[in-house]
Amino acid sequence: MTAPQVPARPMPHVLNTYGRLPIALTHGQGCRVWDTHGKRYLDGLGGIAVNTLGHAHPKLVPALQDQVARLIHCSNYYEVPLQEQLAARLCEISGLSGAFFCSTGLEANEAALKLARKFGHDKGIERPEIIVYEKAFHGRSIATLSATGNPKVQAGFGPLVEGFVRVPLNDLAAVERVARENPNVVAVFLETIQGEGGVNPARADYLQGLRALCDRQDWLLMLDEVQCGIGRTGKWFAHQWAGVVPDVMPLAKGLGSGVPIGAVVCGPKAVDIFGPGNHGTTFGGNPLAMRAGVETLRIMEEDGLLAHAAAVGARLSGGLRHGLEGVAGVVEIRGAGLMIGIELDRPCGVILQRAADAGLMLSVTADRVIRLVPPLVLSADEADEIVQILVPIVRDFLAA
Ligand SMILES: Cc1ncc(COP(=O)(O)O)c(C=O)c1O
Repeated sequence: MTAPQVPARPMPHVLNTYGRLPIALTHGQGCRVWDTHGKRYLDGLGGIAVNTLGHAHPKLVPALQDQVARLIHCSNYYEVPLQEQLAARLCEISGLSGAFFCSTGLEANEAALKLARKFGHDKGIERPEIIVYEKAFHGRSIATLSATGNPKVQAGFGPLVEGFVRVPLNDLAAVERVARENPNVVAVFLETIQGEGGVNPARADYLQGLRALCDRQDWLLMLDEVQCGIGRTGKWFAHQWAGVVPDVMPLAKGLGSGVPIGAVVCGPKAVDIFGPGNHGTTFGGNPLAMRAGVETLRIMEEDGLLAHAAAVGARLSGGLRHGLEGVAGVVEIRGAGLMIGIELDRPCGVILQRAADAGLMLSVTADRVIRLVPPLVLSADEADEIVQILVPIVRDFLAA
C-alpha cells in the first residue's frame, strides 16, 4: 500500500511558523542591507531591535573574528572569564548586582519567572503568583506565553501555566487592588515599553508607584527590557528615564548585536535566590556570545551611541510627526529614542510589503502599529530618508 500523498509546500524543510516576505538578504553595511537580487534596503527594523551596531560594524567584526578563532563554546563546567566581564559591566550600567546568562529573551524571562517563584517559596508562599499585563509579550515558551497578554499567542497551547494575575498597564489602582486581595503575589512583571503589544510605554509615575508598592509589599519589580533596553531609548535601560531601579531585569536582543544572547540581571533582593543546580542552560554565557555583549557595550560607549540614539530618535519621530500631522487615520506616534510606533486606526499589515518595495524595512505589530526599531547607528540623513519613504506610504494607505 502506498502512503497518502502529502501536498508539496514551497519550503518543505522549514516549519511554517512565520509570515515571511519573499525577500532573502545576503549582506549588510551599517543601516543598509541587500537582497539576493541586489536590491538595497534601509534597515528600520534592525532584525527586530537586535542589530544595535548595524551590520558589519568595523569594530565588532574583527573582535568576533578573533573570538571565533580562539574559543566559541566550552560549557558551564568551567569558568568563563568573559561572563564575569560582561556581568560586571551590566551591573555597572544598571546599578544591579549580578547576572545569569542565557541565549534568548524568552529564556531570560523564564529565569525571571523562576526567580520570582523561588523568592516566594523561600519566604513560605507555596503557590506564588505574579502580576502580568494586558498586551504584554514575554516570549513563546509555555510559561512566557502564559505571562503574555495576547490571546493570539496563547491560542491552541492550553492548558496555560497558572500563577499569573493580569492587570491593565498604567493603572496603579488595579495593582493596589491585587495587593489588598491576594497574599500570594510575589512579583510584578512588565515591559518598560511594551514592544509587540504596540509600543506602549509604562509612564514614569506609574513605574515609580510600582517601585514604592513593591518595596512596601516585599515584591520583586521585574522589568522586561528585552526589546527596549541596551541604549534604544537613549539611556542604557528605558526605566532609567523614570529614576527607578528594578530587582530583576531580563535582557536579550540588542545585547549581542545579532549574536544570540540573553541575560537576567538581578539586584540585591534577587541575586542570591538561585543556588547551584537551580538553573542552567548549555549555550548560556558561551565565550562567543559574551564577547559579543562585551564588545557591543564597549563600542556603544566609545561611539556615544546613547546620546546619538536619543538625538536621531527625536529627529526621526519629529519628522514623522511633522509629515503625518493632521492626517486622518493616524491615532498616535509614540515611543522613546529609536523605538517608535505609529498607531493607525485600522489594520495595516500591507505596509510591510509596500515599504519593502520602496526600499525600507520595518514591522507592523498589534495589527495597527507601524514599528521602527532601527540600529542605533542610524544617521540623521538615514532618519530623514525613513521619513521621506514612509510618510507618503502611510498617507496613500490611509487615503485609499
Ligand atoms: C519584550 C520582549 N520580551 C521577550 C521577548 C522574547 O524574546 P525571544 O524572541 O528572544 O525569545 C521579546 C521578543 O520580541 C520581547 O519583545
